[in-house]
Amino acid sequence: MAKPEIELLVESLGARGDGIARHGEDRVFLPFTLPGDRVRARLERAGREGIAGRVVEIVQPGPGRAEPPCRHFGACGGCALQHLDVGFYAEWKTGLLRTALARRGLSDGAVEPLLPGRPGTRRRADFTALRRGEGVVIGFNARMSHRVIDLAECPILLPEIAALVPALRTLCADILAVGDKAELVVAATEGGLDLLVVDAGGLGLKRREALVAFAEDRDLARISHRHPRQGGPELVVERRPVTMRFGEVAVPIPPGAFLQATADGEAALTAVVTEAARDVVTIADLYCGCGTFTFPLAATGAAVHAVDGLDWQIRTVERAARAAMLNRVTAEVRDLAKRALQPAQLAAYDAVVFDPPRAGAQAQAEALAQSNVPIVVAISCNPASFARDARLLVDGGFHIERIQPVDQFLWSPHLELAAVFRR
Ligand SMILES: C[S@@+](CC[C@H](N)C(=O)[O-])C[C@H]1O[C@@H](n2cnc3c(N)ncnc32)[C@H](O)[C@@H]1O
Repeated sequence: MAKPEIELLVESLGARGDGIARHGEDRVFLPFTLPGDRVRARLERAGREGIAGRVVEIVQPGPGRAEPPCRHFGACGGCALQHLDVGFYAEWKTGLLRTALARRGLSDGAVEPLLPGRPGTRRRADFTALRRGEGVVIGFNARMSHRVIDLAECPILLPEIAALVPALRTLCADILAVGDKAELVVAATEGGLDLLVVDAGGLGLKRREALVAFAEDRDLARISHRHPRQGGPELVVERRPVTMRFGEVAVPIPPGAFLQATADGEAALTAVVTEAARDVVTIADLYCGCGTFTFPLAATGAAVHAVDGLDWQIRTVERAARAAMLNRVTAEVRDLAKRALQPAQLAAYDAVVFDPPRAGAQAQAEALAQSNVPIVVAISCNPASFARDARLLVDGGFHIERIQPVDQFLWSPHLELAAVFRR
Protein backbone atom coordinates (compact mmCIF):
# COMPACT_ATOMS: atom_id res chain seq x y z
CA MET A 1 0.00 0.00 0.00
CA ALA A 2 1.35 3.45 -0.89
CA LYS A 3 2.50 5.44 2.13
CA PRO A 4 0.30 8.48 2.93
CA GLU A 5 1.39 11.88 1.64
CA ILE A 6 1.91 14.72 4.09
CA GLU A 7 2.66 18.40 3.64
CA LEU A 8 5.95 19.63 5.10
CA LEU A 9 7.86 22.90 5.28
CA VAL A 10 11.62 22.66 4.71
CA GLU A 11 13.44 24.64 7.40
CA SER A 12 17.15 24.10 6.78
CA LEU A 13 19.75 22.24 4.71
CA GLY A 14 21.64 19.38 6.37
CA ALA A 15 25.35 18.60 6.02
CA ARG A 16 24.70 16.21 3.12
CA GLY A 17 22.68 18.83 1.25
CA ASP A 18 19.21 17.46 2.04
CA GLY A 19 16.43 19.80 3.10
CA ILE A 20 15.27 19.18 6.67
CA ALA A 21 11.63 19.51 7.78
CA ARG A 22 10.00 18.79 11.12
CA HIS A 23 7.25 16.21 11.50
CA GLY A 24 6.19 16.09 15.14
CA GLU A 25 9.35 15.30 17.09
CA ASP A 26 11.12 13.88 14.03
CA ARG A 27 13.44 15.42 11.47
CA VAL A 28 12.59 14.50 7.91
CA PHE A 29 15.36 14.59 5.27
CA LEU A 30 14.11 15.65 1.86
CA PRO A 31 16.71 15.48 -0.95
CA PHE A 32 16.74 18.23 -3.59
CA THR A 33 14.73 20.71 -1.52
CA LEU A 34 15.75 23.97 0.14
CA PRO A 35 14.59 26.09 3.09
CA GLY A 36 11.20 27.68 2.43
CA ASP A 37 10.01 24.87 0.13
CA ARG A 38 6.52 23.65 0.98
CA VAL A 39 6.26 20.07 -0.30
CA ARG A 40 3.99 17.05 -0.39
CA ALA A 41 6.13 14.08 0.62
CA ARG A 42 6.08 10.46 1.68
CA LEU A 43 7.98 9.22 4.74
CA GLU A 44 10.11 6.31 3.54
CA ARG A 45 12.55 5.00 6.16
CA ALA A 46 13.43 5.84 9.74
CA GLY A 47 17.18 6.16 10.32
CA ARG A 48 19.48 7.14 13.17
CA GLU A 49 19.36 10.86 12.43
CA GLY A 50 15.76 11.13 11.28
CA ILE A 51 13.33 9.94 8.64
CA ALA A 52 14.23 9.76 4.95
CA GLY A 53 11.40 11.35 2.97
CA ARG A 54 10.62 11.50 -0.75
CA VAL A 55 9.14 14.60 -2.33
CA VAL A 56 6.03 13.95 -4.42
CA GLU A 57 5.43 17.59 -5.34
CA ILE A 58 6.84 21.00 -4.51
CA VAL A 59 3.66 22.85 -3.57
CA GLN A 60 5.41 26.19 -3.17
CA PRO A 61 9.12 26.73 -3.87
CA GLY A 62 11.28 28.61 -1.38
CA PRO A 63 13.54 31.54 -2.29
CA GLY A 64 17.02 30.87 -3.67
CA ARG A 65 15.95 28.15 -6.10
CA ALA A 66 17.71 27.76 -9.47
CA GLU A 67 17.00 25.67 -12.57
CA PRO A 68 19.28 22.58 -12.38
CA PRO A 69 21.56 22.51 -15.45
CA CYS A 70 21.60 18.72 -15.79
CA ARG A 71 18.73 16.49 -16.93
CA HIS A 72 19.87 13.76 -14.50
CA PHE A 73 19.67 15.98 -11.43
CA GLY A 74 17.44 14.36 -8.83
CA ALA A 75 18.17 10.84 -10.07
CA CYS A 76 21.98 10.73 -10.32
CA GLY A 77 23.80 10.54 -6.99
CA GLY A 78 26.71 12.67 -8.24
CA CYS A 79 25.13 16.06 -7.48
CA ALA A 80 22.97 17.12 -4.54
CA LEU A 81 22.75 20.90 -4.92
CA GLN A 82 22.16 22.05 -8.50
CA HIS A 83 18.83 23.52 -7.40
CA LEU A 84 20.40 26.30 -5.31
CA ASP A 85 21.14 29.73 -6.75
CA VAL A 86 24.79 30.78 -6.75
CA GLY A 87 24.67 33.06 -3.69
CA PHE A 88 22.67 30.69 -1.52
CA TYR A 89 24.89 27.77 -2.55
CA ALA A 90 28.14 29.60 -1.67
CA GLU A 91 26.67 30.70 1.65
CA TRP A 92 25.57 27.17 2.50
CA LYS A 93 28.92 25.62 1.54
CA THR A 94 30.92 28.08 3.59
CA GLY A 95 28.40 27.49 6.38
CA LEU A 96 29.50 23.82 6.52
CA LEU A 97 32.96 25.02 7.51
CA ARG A 98 31.72 27.68 9.94
CA THR A 99 29.47 25.12 11.68
CA ALA A 100 32.28 22.55 11.94
CA LEU A 101 34.59 25.16 13.49
CA ALA A 102 31.91 26.34 15.93
CA ARG A 103 31.32 22.74 17.06
CA ARG A 104 34.97 22.62 18.12
CA GLY A 105 34.78 26.02 19.78
CA LEU A 106 36.89 27.68 17.06
CA SER A 107 36.33 31.14 15.58
CA ASP A 108 35.48 31.48 11.89
CA GLY A 109 37.25 34.85 11.71
CA ALA A 110 39.99 33.51 9.41
CA VAL A 111 37.58 32.00 6.86
CA GLU A 112 38.00 33.65 3.46
CA PRO A 113 35.31 33.82 0.76
CA LEU A 114 34.68 30.54 -1.07
CA LEU A 115 36.68 30.18 -4.30
CA PRO A 116 33.92 29.08 -6.68
CA GLY A 117 34.06 25.92 -8.76
CA ARG A 118 33.30 25.93 -12.48
CA PRO A 119 31.24 23.41 -14.44
CA GLY A 120 33.12 21.34 -17.01
CA THR A 121 36.36 21.14 -15.01
CA ARG A 122 36.30 17.81 -13.12
CA ARG A 123 39.26 15.89 -14.49
CA ARG A 124 38.61 12.41 -13.16
CA ALA A 125 35.46 10.28 -13.37
CA ASP A 126 34.74 6.87 -11.85
CA PHE A 127 31.98 5.43 -14.03
CA THR A 128 30.17 2.17 -13.45
CA ALA A 129 29.30 0.20 -16.60
CA LEU A 130 26.74 -2.57 -16.59
CA ARG A 131 26.14 -4.88 -19.54
CA ARG A 132 22.48 -5.75 -19.83
CA GLY A 133 20.74 -7.91 -22.41
CA GLU A 134 19.59 -4.84 -24.33
CA GLY A 135 22.80 -2.80 -24.11
CA VAL A 136 25.18 -1.09 -21.71
CA VAL A 137 24.27 1.30 -18.92
CA ILE A 138 27.13 3.61 -17.96
CA GLY A 139 27.19 6.43 -15.46
CA PHE A 140 27.15 7.14 -11.74
CA ASN A 141 25.10 5.43 -9.05
CA ALA A 142 21.71 6.82 -8.12
CA ARG A 143 21.60 8.44 -4.71
CA MET A 144 22.06 5.87 -1.86
CA SER A 145 21.64 3.04 -4.36
CA HIS A 146 23.57 0.61 -6.55
CA ARG A 147 21.31 1.44 -9.50
CA VAL A 148 23.35 3.05 -12.28
CA ILE A 149 21.98 6.16 -14.00
CA ASP A 150 22.67 5.94 -17.73
CA LEU A 151 24.55 9.14 -18.50
CA ALA A 152 23.48 11.32 -21.41
CA GLU A 153 25.31 14.41 -20.13
CA CYS A 154 27.36 15.58 -17.16
CA PRO A 155 27.97 19.32 -16.75
CA ILE A 156 30.54 18.69 -14.00
CA LEU A 157 33.06 16.77 -16.10
CA LEU A 158 35.67 18.12 -18.49
CA PRO A 159 33.98 18.03 -21.91
CA GLU A 160 36.51 15.51 -23.26
CA ILE A 161 35.64 13.06 -20.47
CA ALA A 162 31.87 13.53 -20.89
CA ALA A 163 32.27 13.13 -24.66
CA LEU A 164 33.94 9.74 -24.18
CA VAL A 165 30.86 8.17 -22.57
CA PRO A 166 29.05 7.02 -25.76
CA ALA A 167 32.26 5.41 -27.02
CA LEU A 168 32.78 3.70 -23.65
CA ARG A 169 29.26 2.33 -23.96
CA THR A 170 30.15 0.78 -27.31
CA LEU A 171 33.44 -0.54 -25.92
CA CYS A 172 31.69 -2.20 -22.98
CA ALA A 173 29.15 -3.85 -25.28
CA ASP A 174 32.22 -5.50 -26.82
CA ILE A 175 34.29 -6.38 -23.74
CA LEU A 176 31.63 -7.21 -21.11
CA ALA A 177 29.45 -10.30 -21.04
CA VAL A 178 25.72 -9.90 -20.33
CA GLY A 179 25.26 -9.33 -16.57
CA ASP A 180 28.88 -8.19 -16.03
CA LYS A 181 29.92 -4.95 -14.43
CA ALA A 182 33.09 -2.83 -14.68
CA GLU A 183 34.45 0.32 -13.10
CA LEU A 184 35.91 2.73 -15.64
CA VAL A 185 38.23 5.37 -14.23
CA VAL A 186 38.97 8.15 -16.71
CA ALA A 187 41.51 10.86 -15.89
CA ALA A 188 42.56 13.82 -18.01
CA THR A 189 46.35 14.16 -17.89
CA GLU A 190 48.93 16.17 -19.80
CA GLY A 191 49.44 13.23 -22.16
CA GLY A 192 45.71 12.91 -22.85
CA LEU A 193 42.96 10.71 -21.42
CA ASP A 194 44.00 7.79 -19.23
CA LEU A 195 41.55 4.89 -18.82
CA LEU A 196 41.69 2.25 -16.09
CA VAL A 197 39.25 -0.66 -16.45
CA VAL A 198 38.54 -2.49 -13.20
CA ASP A 199 36.68 -5.77 -13.53
CA ALA A 200 36.99 -9.49 -12.98
CA GLY A 201 37.01 -10.24 -16.71
CA GLY A 202 40.78 -10.74 -17.10
CA LEU A 203 42.82 -9.71 -20.11
CA GLY A 204 42.41 -12.29 -22.85
CA LEU A 205 43.66 -11.61 -26.37
CA LYS A 206 40.26 -10.50 -27.68
CA ARG A 207 39.76 -7.97 -24.89
CA ARG A 208 43.30 -6.71 -25.20
CA GLU A 209 42.80 -6.15 -28.93
CA ALA A 210 39.49 -4.35 -28.34
CA LEU A 211 41.10 -2.05 -25.77
CA VAL A 212 44.10 -1.28 -27.99
CA ALA A 213 41.76 -0.49 -30.91
CA PHE A 214 39.71 1.74 -28.61
CA ALA A 215 42.83 3.67 -27.53
CA GLU A 216 43.77 4.19 -31.19
CA ASP A 217 40.27 5.15 -32.24
CA ARG A 218 39.72 7.65 -29.38
CA ASP A 219 43.35 8.80 -29.21
CA LEU A 220 43.71 7.85 -25.53
CA ALA A 221 47.12 8.21 -23.91
CA ARG A 222 46.92 4.92 -22.01
CA ILE A 223 44.66 2.03 -21.04
CA SER A 224 45.30 -0.24 -18.05
CA HIS A 225 43.34 -3.05 -16.48
CA ARG A 226 43.03 -4.16 -12.86
CA HIS A 227 41.21 -7.03 -11.23
CA PRO A 228 39.10 -5.66 -8.32
CA ARG A 229 40.78 -7.96 -5.79
CA GLN A 230 44.04 -9.13 -7.33
CA GLY A 231 47.24 -7.12 -7.54
CA GLY A 232 48.06 -3.84 -9.24
CA PRO A 233 47.06 -2.58 -12.66
CA GLU A 234 48.39 -4.21 -15.83
CA LEU A 235 49.29 -1.97 -18.73
CA VAL A 236 47.33 -2.68 -21.91
CA VAL A 237 48.62 0.13 -24.10
CA GLU A 238 50.53 3.38 -23.59
CA ARG A 239 50.53 5.62 -26.64
CA ARG A 240 51.94 8.72 -24.93
CA PRO A 241 53.55 9.31 -21.52
CA VAL A 242 50.90 9.97 -18.85
CA THR A 243 52.21 12.88 -16.82
CA MET A 244 51.01 15.77 -14.70
CA ARG A 245 53.06 18.91 -14.20
CA PHE A 246 53.47 19.69 -10.51
CA GLY A 247 55.54 22.85 -10.17
CA GLU A 248 58.34 22.52 -12.70
CA VAL A 249 58.31 18.73 -12.82
CA ALA A 250 56.39 16.46 -15.21
CA VAL A 251 55.46 13.56 -12.92
CA PRO A 252 54.59 10.19 -14.53
CA ILE A 253 51.20 9.26 -13.08
CA PRO A 254 50.43 5.58 -12.31
CA PRO A 255 46.95 4.33 -13.28
CA GLY A 256 44.33 5.23 -10.67
CA ALA A 257 46.65 7.54 -8.69
CA PHE A 258 45.15 10.33 -6.59
CA LEU A 259 44.79 13.69 -8.38
CA GLN A 260 43.14 16.82 -7.05
CA ALA A 261 39.68 16.87 -8.64
CA THR A 262 40.15 19.99 -10.77
CA ALA A 263 43.11 21.96 -12.11
CA ASP A 264 41.58 25.15 -10.64
CA GLY A 265 41.29 23.52 -7.21
CA GLU A 266 44.85 22.24 -7.36
CA ALA A 267 46.15 25.69 -8.34
CA ALA A 268 44.23 27.36 -5.48
CA LEU A 269 45.50 24.87 -2.88
CA THR A 270 49.06 25.01 -4.22
CA ALA A 271 49.00 28.82 -4.03
CA VAL A 272 48.09 28.72 -0.32
CA VAL A 273 50.73 26.05 0.40
CA THR A 274 53.60 27.77 -1.43
CA GLU A 275 52.70 31.23 -0.14
CA ALA A 276 52.68 30.00 3.49
CA ALA A 277 55.99 28.18 3.05
CA ARG A 278 57.62 30.99 1.03
CA ASP A 279 60.67 31.59 3.21
CA VAL A 280 61.22 28.18 4.76
CA VAL A 281 64.20 25.91 4.22
CA THR A 282 62.92 22.44 5.17
CA ILE A 283 59.38 21.16 4.73
CA ALA A 284 57.58 17.87 5.32
CA ASP A 285 54.79 17.19 2.81
CA LEU A 286 52.65 14.56 4.56
CA TYR A 287 50.03 12.53 2.64
CA CYS A 288 51.88 13.67 -0.47
CA GLY A 289 50.25 11.46 -3.14
CA CYS A 290 52.30 11.74 -6.34
CA GLY A 291 53.80 15.06 -5.27
CA THR A 292 51.11 17.64 -6.08
CA PHE A 293 52.58 19.99 -3.46
CA THR A 294 56.04 18.39 -3.13
CA PHE A 295 57.36 19.72 -6.41
CA PRO A 296 55.92 23.25 -6.22
CA LEU A 297 57.42 23.44 -2.73
CA ALA A 298 60.77 22.20 -4.04
CA ALA A 299 60.58 24.89 -6.73
CA THR A 300 60.81 27.53 -3.95
CA GLY A 301 64.29 26.13 -3.18
CA ALA A 302 63.24 24.31 -0.01
CA ALA A 303 64.27 20.75 0.88
CA VAL A 304 61.07 18.69 0.91
CA HIS A 305 60.47 15.35 2.61
CA ALA A 306 57.43 13.69 1.04
CA VAL A 307 55.51 10.99 2.94
CA ASP A 308 52.61 8.79 1.88
CA GLY A 309 51.22 5.41 2.85
CA LEU A 310 51.22 4.01 -0.71
CA ASP A 311 54.61 2.74 -1.82
CA TRP A 312 53.82 3.11 -5.54
CA GLN A 313 53.02 6.78 -5.08
CA ILE A 314 56.27 7.31 -3.15
CA ARG A 315 58.21 5.49 -5.90
CA THR A 316 56.58 7.89 -8.36
CA VAL A 317 57.77 10.91 -6.36
CA GLU A 318 61.28 9.45 -6.06
CA ARG A 319 61.50 8.67 -9.77
CA ALA A 320 60.28 12.14 -10.76
CA ALA A 321 62.69 13.81 -8.32
CA ARG A 322 65.61 11.78 -9.71
CA ALA A 323 64.68 12.57 -13.31
CA ALA A 324 64.50 16.28 -12.44
CA MET A 325 67.81 16.00 -10.49
CA LEU A 326 66.08 17.37 -7.42
CA ASN A 327 68.12 15.77 -4.67
CA ARG A 328 66.56 18.12 -2.13
CA VAL A 329 63.38 16.01 -2.47
CA THR A 330 63.36 12.87 -0.30
CA ALA A 331 60.46 10.46 0.12
CA GLU A 332 59.25 7.87 2.61
CA VAL A 333 56.51 5.23 2.74
CA ARG A 334 54.82 5.52 6.10
CA ASP A 335 51.40 4.92 7.58
CA LEU A 336 50.81 8.29 9.23
CA ALA A 337 47.70 7.13 11.09
CA LYS A 338 49.68 4.41 12.87
CA ARG A 339 53.15 6.00 12.82
CA ALA A 340 52.77 9.76 12.75
CA LEU A 341 56.00 11.77 12.64
CA GLN A 342 56.82 12.50 16.28
CA PRO A 343 58.01 15.83 17.79
CA ALA A 344 61.70 14.78 17.74
CA GLN A 345 61.46 13.97 14.01
CA LEU A 346 59.37 17.08 13.30
CA ALA A 347 62.12 19.24 14.80
CA ALA A 348 63.90 18.94 11.43
CA TYR A 349 61.20 21.00 9.63
CA ASP A 350 60.39 24.72 9.41
CA ALA A 351 56.94 23.88 8.03
CA VAL A 352 54.67 20.86 7.65
CA VAL A 353 51.95 20.39 5.06
CA PHE A 354 49.37 17.65 5.55
CA ASP A 355 46.61 16.58 3.17
CA PRO A 356 44.94 13.46 4.59
CA PRO A 357 41.90 11.51 3.33
CA ARG A 358 38.43 12.35 4.73
CA ALA A 359 39.20 10.83 8.15
CA GLY A 360 41.74 13.59 8.77
CA ALA A 361 45.14 13.48 10.45
CA GLN A 362 44.38 13.19 14.16
CA ALA A 363 47.55 11.34 15.21
CA GLN A 364 49.74 13.69 13.17
CA ALA A 365 47.97 16.81 14.46
CA GLU A 366 48.51 15.58 18.04
CA ALA A 367 52.23 15.18 17.37
CA LEU A 368 52.43 18.58 15.65
CA ALA A 369 50.69 20.17 18.64
CA GLN A 370 53.54 18.89 20.85
CA SER A 371 56.29 19.87 18.38
CA ASN A 372 58.20 23.08 17.76
CA VAL A 373 57.23 23.30 14.09
CA PRO A 374 56.32 26.97 13.51
CA ILE A 375 54.08 26.67 10.41
CA VAL A 376 51.50 24.05 9.48
CA VAL A 377 49.38 24.03 6.32
CA ALA A 378 46.38 21.71 6.46
CA ILE A 379 44.57 20.69 3.31
CA SER A 380 41.26 18.95 3.86
CA CYS A 381 38.22 17.65 2.01
CA ASN A 382 36.19 17.27 5.21
CA PRO A 383 35.39 20.29 7.41
CA ALA A 384 34.45 18.05 10.38
CA SER A 385 37.78 16.19 10.61
CA PHE A 386 39.61 19.41 9.73
CA ALA A 387 37.98 21.23 12.66
CA ARG A 388 38.93 18.39 15.02
CA ASP A 389 42.58 18.56 13.86
CA ALA A 390 42.54 22.38 13.94
CA ARG A 391 41.37 22.27 17.57
CA LEU A 392 44.37 20.07 18.43
CA LEU A 393 46.75 22.50 16.73
CA VAL A 394 45.18 25.55 18.40
CA ASP A 395 45.36 23.84 21.79
CA GLY A 396 49.04 23.15 21.01
CA GLY A 397 49.77 26.87 20.60
CA PHE A 398 49.02 27.60 16.94
CA HIS A 399 46.72 30.33 15.73
CA ILE A 400 44.71 30.06 12.54
CA GLU A 401 46.06 32.61 10.08
CA ARG A 402 43.71 31.87 7.18
CA ILE A 403 41.28 29.24 5.92
CA GLN A 404 40.61 29.23 2.20
CA PRO A 405 37.54 27.17 1.21
CA VAL A 406 37.75 25.91 -2.37
CA ASP A 407 34.68 24.59 -4.19
CA GLN A 408 36.45 21.71 -5.85
CA PHE A 409 33.41 19.41 -5.67
CA LEU A 410 30.82 21.55 -7.40
CA TRP A 411 27.15 20.87 -6.49
CA SER A 412 28.15 18.20 -4.00
CA PRO A 413 28.12 18.57 -0.20
CA HIS A 414 31.90 18.10 -0.12
CA LEU A 415 34.16 21.06 0.57
CA GLU A 416 37.91 21.35 0.05
CA LEU A 417 39.98 23.84 2.01
CA ALA A 418 43.52 24.97 2.75
CA ALA A 419 44.37 26.44 6.15
CA VAL A 420 47.52 28.07 7.48
CA PHE A 421 48.49 27.77 11.15
CA ARG A 422 51.38 29.59 12.82
CA ARG A 423 52.80 29.55 16.30
C1 LIG B 1 43.72 13.55 -0.28
S1 LIG B 1 45.05 12.60 -0.92
C2 LIG B 1 46.25 13.87 -1.09
C3 LIG B 1 47.39 13.57 -1.99
C4 LIG B 1 48.28 14.74 -2.39
N1 LIG B 1 48.59 15.63 -1.29
C5 LIG B 1 47.69 15.50 -3.55
O1 LIG B 1 47.30 16.66 -3.37
O2 LIG B 1 47.65 14.97 -4.65
C6 LIG B 1 45.48 11.71 0.49
C7 LIG B 1 46.73 10.86 0.40
O3 LIG B 1 46.89 10.25 1.67
C8 LIG B 1 47.43 8.96 1.48
N2 LIG B 1 47.09 8.21 2.70
C9 LIG B 1 45.89 7.71 3.06
N3 LIG B 1 45.96 7.13 4.27
C10 LIG B 1 47.25 7.27 4.68
C11 LIG B 1 47.94 6.89 5.86
N4 LIG B 1 47.33 6.24 6.87
N5 LIG B 1 49.25 7.19 5.95
C12 LIG B 1 49.89 7.85 4.96
N6 LIG B 1 49.27 8.23 3.82
C13 LIG B 1 47.96 7.95 3.68
C14 LIG B 1 46.82 8.46 0.20
O4 LIG B 1 47.63 7.49 -0.39
C15 LIG B 1 46.71 9.75 -0.62
O5 LIG B 1 47.83 9.89 -1.45
